[in-house]
Amino acid sequence: MGRVDGKIALVTGGASGLGKADCELLAAEGATVFIADINGAAAEALAGRIGGSARALTHDVTSEADWLRVYGEIERAHGRLDILVNNAGIVIVANPEDTTLEQFQRAMAVMATGVFLGCKHGLPLLAKSRAASIINISSTASHFGYAPFFAYSAAKGAVRSMSKSVAIHCQEQGYPIRVNTVHPSAIETPMVQAAEGRAGQEQAIPDGVLPAGATGSPRDVANMVLFLASDESRFLTGGEYLVDNGLSIHP
Ligand SMILES: NC(=O)c1ccc[n+]([C@@H]2O[C@H](COP(=O)([O-])OP(=O)(O)OC[C@H]3O[C@@H](n4cnc5c(N)ncnc54)[C@H](O)[C@@H]3O)[C@@H](O)[C@H]2O)c1
Repeated sequence: MGRVDGKIALVTGGASGLGKADCELLAAEGATVFIADINGAAAEALAGRIGGSARALTHDVTSEADWLRVYGEIERAHGRLDILVNNAGIVIVANPEDTTLEQFQRAMAVMATGVFLGCKHGLPLLAKSRAASIINISSTASHFGYAPFFAYSAAKGAVRSMSKSVAIHCQEQGYPIRVNTVHPSAIETPMVQAAEGRAGQEQAIPDGVLPAGATGSPRDVANMVLFLASDESRFLTGGEYLVDNGLSIHP
């Protein structure tokens, strides 16, 4: 018996990095996974590798029409949604003085507006679940506000506070929906490879306990997402979960 057996899941930005690891793990633990990504070809390729009931959807999280189309497809196929992982993201490397208005608005569109639209239009479908979970992927940037990732930090801060508002709203409305945020530090994905100037060059992450400052593996985050997606975490809502190997306890 899988830990999310029979659940219906949607993962945005599901074709790469953290989203890909989430899709693989949720599917392995019994969920039907909709892999949504602006890169539809990569989502198709992953769905083919996962097999079973995994399905790919081409989906731009900044587009309200795309959200309505995606939720319409899931509703027709299953009549409900149990797990929403708002994971899609981009990184823009620019400090507060160098960030252009266009860069700022793009970061907010993908990571703040995208999460807003996903929650707003997803609540009616999630409310049809017996026990639903929204997992919004923020970052340690929401706590520390990294200067070289200014717009990214702003957007991730919005995800952190917005998620608490949605969690309270769901409880007040009596919806069976929990909402939590996950805050990873640096994890080895194409985003981090690009930000560190080594695009396409993946570094191996060793097994076992890692030293302070180490980069984590996508599976480290997916394990937290799986727990929050499953009914094991039924008493958790409005919470924020650091997946940072202790980064936040170092002054
Ligand atoms: N890797 C890290 O160190 C790290 C740390 C903290 C938080 N995060 C967050 O985790 C999430 C995933 O990041 P990743 O490192 O796996 O990056 P990634 O670049 O490997 O994957 C991001 C995915 O999002 C998709 N995407 C981008 N814009 C989109 C849009 N408008 N609509 C739909 N899909 C879109 C991309 O096509 C890609 O498949 C992001 O929200 C990121 O901010 C990552």
